[in-house]
Amino acid sequence: MKGKKVSLATRAIHGKKLYPYKGAVSTPIYQTSTYRFENSNDAVRYSQGDSSVYVYSRYHNPSVEDVEEKLAEMNDAEASALFSSGMAAISTAILSIVKAGDEIISTPALYGGTYRFFRDVLPQFNVNVKYVDANSLSDISKLATQHTKLFYCESPTNPTVGIVDLYKAIAEVKKAEKKSGGKIATMIDNTFASCLHQSPFDIGFDLIVESATKYIGGHSDVLAGAVIGKKDAIKQVRNVAKYLGGCADPFAAFLLSRSLKTFELRVQRQTENAMKLAKRFEKNPNIQRVFYPGLKSHPDHSIAKKQMSGFGAMVLIEVKGGVKGAAKVCDSLNVAVNAMSLGGVETLVSIPVYSSHVNMSSAELKQHGVTPGMIRISVGAEGINDLIGDFEQALNNI
Ligand SMILES: Cc1ncc(COP(=O)(O)O)c(C=O)c1O
Repeated sequence: MKGKKVSLATRAIHGKKLYPYKGAVSTPIYQTSTYRFENSNDAVRYSQGDSSVYVYSRYHNPSVEDVEEKLAEMNDAEASALFSSGMAAISTAILSIVKAGDEIISTPALYGGTYRFFRDVLPQFNVNVKYVDANSLSDISKLATQHTKLFYCESPTNPTVGIVDLYKAIAEVKKAEKKSGGKIATMIDNTFASCLHQSPFDIGFDLIVESATKYIGGHSDVLAGAVIGKKDAIKQVRNVAKYLGGCADPFAAFLLSRSLKTFELRVQRQTENAMKLAKRFEKNPNIQRVFYPGLKSHPDHSIAKKQMSGFGAMVLIEVKGGVKGAAKVCDSLNVAVNAMSLGGVETLVSIPVYSSHVNMSSAELKQHGVTPGMIRISVGAEGINDLIGDFEQALNNI
């Protein structure tokens, strides 16, 4: 369907194959670890690269492939690989690019798990990460050496919904490549925006990583991750995935395939709710600051407008009374749920210093722009008046 101007919703609902499985309209769950060969020559064909032969579900599985095809289509990409979690996707994608002695340049405002992977795990394999401030992207070429193999970023960022100027980042990476004389791969975590609101391949990124647990899954009932990109890059990712083993399971794939049918409807409604809530929050006297890329008051609103087609459904507020004030609000909500994660149809709230950024030093919190009074809100698809009323009564308790 690629290139035929088929809408995102249609791609998410149907994927490439409309009725591939005996006419079943929904994707059957291939709950099998292994596959019967017609004869022993099948094993030989597989080893020679014939991908029509199924061998073992850590390598491939039809239910999983259904989602992989849809995600590739939805992102206008050649291929994608599905994983058991967002972190499995991110770590495998990174390890498919870097080896001992290599360096990564990243913006510092990252999901806590990714940041800790960079801080605590990669250095054990002699891979080091250098950080470039999102406001000083021209430093990318200053930091780059012949060992730099990857530029990594997240935008909007978790949890502060900050915006990285993605066009500028790509231009600076190109300059850095000239200086270092080698290819620097570019990878973005597109979880917060999702492909409904941001198309990083159009901007020049090589790979998208995503926690499919969030907007792709959309119902807070499945863990999954995805890496999306060109065929060769995904082949390289799969070669590493085979041995790290973070493959997606067929039932998770079934849930994702079903969730994708309502992806556009859900995320559109959640985004509309987020804008309405953010506007109300701006008027609330118990809120000190509201961060939402769709508000004119957001410092990077103009950059967000340039690179996003919508502003997503993540809102951050900083309330009066520090972490005690934040806890009071979260504990008084009746509709919104005090829980980690994001992207589902139910509104979830979390306090970053107690969740994604727990146990970070004050210097690290400062670098990430996180303060104790912040509440991250993943806006859901509930009735907007119920959400407004719920937050107003909870904020009155400060
Ligand atoms: C932006 C972002 N990236 C990646 C992840 C990791 O995803 P998962 O929990 O599916 O491993 C998360 C999880 O919250 C996230 O918010």
